[in-house]
Order: sequence, then C-alpha cells, then structure tokens
Amino acid sequence: MVTKTLGDRTGCFSDDEGGNMGFKHKDIIALKDLTKEEIELLLSTAENMREINSRDIKKVPTLRGKTIVNLFYEASTRTRTSFEIAAKRLSADTVNISPSTSSATKGETLSDTALNLLAMKPDIIVMRHAISGSHYFLAKRLSCSIINAGDGAHEHPSQGLLDMLTMRDKFGTLAGLKVAIVGDITHSRVARSDIAGLTKMGSHVFLAGPPTMIPPGVEKLGNVTVCKDMREAVEDADVVMMLRIQLERQGKTLLPSLREYARYYGLNPEVLKLAKKDAMVMHPGPINRGVELSSYVADGAQSHILNQVENGVAVRMAMLYHVSGGELPTE
Ligand code: CP
Repeated sequence: MVTKTLGDRTGCFSDDEGGNMGFKHKDIIALKDLTKEEIELLLSTAENMREINSRDIKKVPTLRGKTIVNLFYEASTRTRTSFEIAAKRLSADTVNISPSTSSATKGETLSDTALNLLAMKPDIIVMRHAISGSHYFLAKRLSCSIINAGDGAHEHPSQGLLDMLTMRDKFGTLAGLKVAIVGDITHSRVARSDIAGLTKMGSHVFLAGPPTMIPPGVEKLGNVTVCKDMREAVEDADVVMMLRIQLERQGKTLLPSLREYARYYGLNPEVLKLAKKDAMVMHPGPINRGVELSSYVADGAQSHILNQVENGVAVRMAMLYHVSGGELPTE
C-alpha cells in the first residue's frame, strides 16, 4: 500500500521534528511502559499540536478516515470531552459509548463488547474502566489501538502527560523539580502515572496523605519520598499536586471525616506559603472545594488547574497521532 506520512498533513511538523519516528507502540496503557524518550516525544508532539488549537479553524486532516470509539464505563468530564475534541481536531470520526446505553446493561462482557466493536473496524478504542488492567486484557485480544483513559487505581497516562506538559511550560524542564503529591495515593491512578512519568523525567516526588492512603512500598519506585506530614512534602516544592478524595473507590472507612481530612491534608494559603514563592498548584479535577484545597487556592494566582485542562486536548491529539502509526493511505 502506498503511504504518506502524517506529518505532511498536519501542517505543524517539519521533517526533522515531527513524523512518528521513535514511537513504536500500538497502545498507550501506562506511562510505566514508556521510555523517557517516548514520553519526551509525546510531550513535544503535544507542544506542536497546541498551534492547531490556537487557530481560528482548529482542524487538520491528519486522521481523516480513522474511526475512534470512546468507551467510557465510568463518569468523566475532562478526559472524555478532550479525547473527543482531540479526535475531531485531527479529522477522525468519533463514536461515544456509555455503559448506561450499551449492552453492558444486558450482561454483555467487556470482551464481547470489545470484539463486537472491533467487528465494525475502529482504528482506536479509548477506554475508561473501573478494573485495573482491563486495557492490557483488551490490547492482547484486539488488533486496533487501545488508549487508557483511566483504569481503576492503576494508571491515567493522558493525565500524567498533561500534568508534565503543564509543569514543563512553566519550568522549561522536569529534571530536578520537587513535586509534592498530596492525598489519596493508594486509590489514585493519576498519582501512579505522575510518579511513573515524573521520576523517569528526573523530578523528585514527595508523597503525603493519611497513612491509610499511602500504598506500602511506594518509595521503592525510585526518586519517591514518603512524608509523614503534608508540610514536609510541600516545603520548598516547585509543584503541589492535590489529589481528589476517591470516595467511590475506597469505601468510607479510611477517613474519620472530610473535615478532619481538610484540616490535615487540605491545601490552604498558609500551607502553600511553605512551597517555593511561585510554586504551581495543580489538581487533576474534579475538585472538592474546601476538602482537598480551599477555593482561595483553587482560584488563586498560583493555580494551574485550567492550564492542565487546556493542555489535555493537545496531549490527547499527540497520543492519537502516535498510536496511529504515522501513515495514512494516499487518496
Ligand atoms: N482528571 C480527570 O480524569 O477528570 P475526568 O474524570 O472529568 O475525566
């Protein structure tokens, strides 16, 4: 088959900076599976994609003729919407499926649903599922690409990438940053992707949270320090990443009360003062105002929460682009 590089069609890559050189994966399931160079490639592609998002007409023909299925078994505002916008900006055709309107309600297994979708010849399935590892299960069985939009408490690679891109926008590098991640580490797929990505890129991650929410052995992941006190993690940090309390995943026995949690692990202006003067405040969303962080901090000058969301579209464009393999049939 005669092929043409995607780079020729995006209008945003020159021969030496773009194309799909260096990314060999069919699927993107976890940042722990990617090399530092592959993460670097995804981030630099996302930077190029941002130019498209700033145009009046935000559309390029890069993925024209490709079909992308968004299969979300859990609620989502940011991830589902931005994967759909990303696909549309690259001219792919998109289909959204939610469990409440799918045959999952009639007892169909994930495997059967996926095989039936595959029979309709999608190129990429973007899936969010409550079961950690469900994407590896599908990726082995399906010939199309699988992108993980969040699996249980395992990983959320697009969130990890957009977090890193937002930090890199401010600091120019991830190497040497002190990043505090505070909250429910045990149930957080965001924390796992951030830890995997940031430590590969040379950041030092400091974790803090209630002892019931710190997974045993997490410090063995390398360049990760577990702090007993949130203040120790935040002190001199370049970035303070607050995590959402995952009440839906933890049952309700790990915390005495949300008020007590906010008192010891919530970010307020007084605690934030311990970080570097212009430290970034981040949160993957959705935020629980007054619990993980005060409104004053969430809406304050140091908050980069909406920059994270903005970068989410470019990062997801980069992910769709790279798993598509860099080749399209010519007309
Ligand atoms: N950060 C994040 O995953 O948000 P959504 O649940 O809204 O997708």
